[in-house]
Amino acid sequence: MTVLPGDKSISHRYAILSALAEGTSEISHYASSADCQSTLQCIRRLGIEIDATPEAVKIAGRGLHGLRESRKTLDAENSGTTIRMLSGVLAGQPFATTITGDSSLRRRPMRRVIEPLAQMGAEIRSEDGGRAPLVIRGGKLKAMDYSSPIPSAQVKSAILLAGMYADGPTSVTEAVRTRDHTELALREFGARVDSLKTTVKVYPEPKLQPRQLAVPGDISAAVFLTAAALILPGSALVLHDVGANPTRARVLDFLISIGGSIRPTSMQMRHGELAGDLSVRHAELSGGTIAGAQVAEMIDELPMLAALGPFTEQGIEIHDAQELRVKESDRIATLAEGLRRMGATVEEFPDGMRVAGRGAGKLRGATVEPHGDHRIAMALAVAALGAEGETTIRDAECVGVSFPEFFDVLDRLRGEKA
Ligand code: S3P
Repeated sequence: MTVLPGDKSISHRYAILSALAEGTSEISHYASSADCQSTLQCIRRLGIEIDATPEAVKIAGRGLHGLRESRKTLDAENSGTTIRMLSGVLAGQPFATTITGDSSLRRRPMRRVIEPLAQMGAEIRSEDGGRAPLVIRGGKLKAMDYSSPIPSAQVKSAILLAGMYADGPTSVTEAVRTRDHTELALREFGARVDSLKTTVKVYPEPKLQPRQLAVPGDISAAVFLTAAALILPGSALVLHDVGANPTRARVLDFLISIGGSIRPTSMQMRHGELAGDLSVRHAELSGGTIAGAQVAEMIDELPMLAALGPFTEQGIEIHDAQELRVKESDRIATLAEGLRRMGATVEEFPDGMRVAGRGAGKLRGATVEPHGDHRIAMALAVAALGAEGETTIRDAECVGVSFPEFFDVLDRLRGEKA
């Protein structure tokens, strides 16, 4: 039975809401990912005491209005979720905060949160073109009904968090459904949130209650191990307590639809989040196309799914995924480059890619460059396991952004098989 790191998306949300709750929350199985440590570090700078041990993270919340001005710049490092979600909270604070990140994060678009938060009344200064560092001065905000032009849970979450500081109910409507962890966590902490189809409404000034929380395993991390088990003959794997929230688990439906042998068992609800075990076995995969509304629900899994292409009958084709170009790297370009180096046949589109199936030939080991992007490094590592010969992944330690234990877990699983 393999235990995964705690879910990154859920951990960020539990940490932020714990900081705003009236008392001490305790979070077990908090994500080991560097991104979630960045969130804790930013929250500490805002005057919140945190006691983090390997067993649990205790966060002494000071209420919705208890954050303190930080003289130091907050550093979200590589984490888009940290900077965008905290921007929503900072928009409600009556002081100025500077928040920045590493060179990858400083290249990523922030206008998508700056514009709605400014409409609510926050003053936000950014570098040219709406990049970090951001200087955010907030206060009492105006309620808003926002139609989000981009399907992004980070944008939705930033507005919902800011909505707690508004003068009336604030809603966000999306064209397609994105992950709903913020809505679920807000309810868990006692806020009033209404959801109807793709609209979510939050009511202002909730008294958030401290909670005892257990984070499920990260399905986006599980997908790399699942993919490895599916393509390597003789593999069988049980992943314990994996988050299976329907807004995240579409990737499992897709893998099953192309022939993947994946069986979810003992599913249970915890704090509004579904979680359970997954049994995975090697299987022959047919391949297929991912497009439209599926994209937002599988956005973080697309690199791994694309890298499965050479191990499928018909290959994998992805459309409508231009968002991949503004992730930790340009994921379409970096993945296409890595897979081509391994001998794959890849066609790049502005909004996706087509990776040819088995008929185009077997992958061979190569030296590949993930450009500091954790999900590209892990997708290429799985492809490398199925390739002939040795692969070197440069700067492979970038996997620590979401799954620091990745290579150790892979080694252990391969040992168990032998
Ligand atoms: C996340 C939302 C997604 C995802 C990211 C985590 C979240 O980003 O890619 O890894 O926790 O809300 P977008 O909201 O930009 O799509």
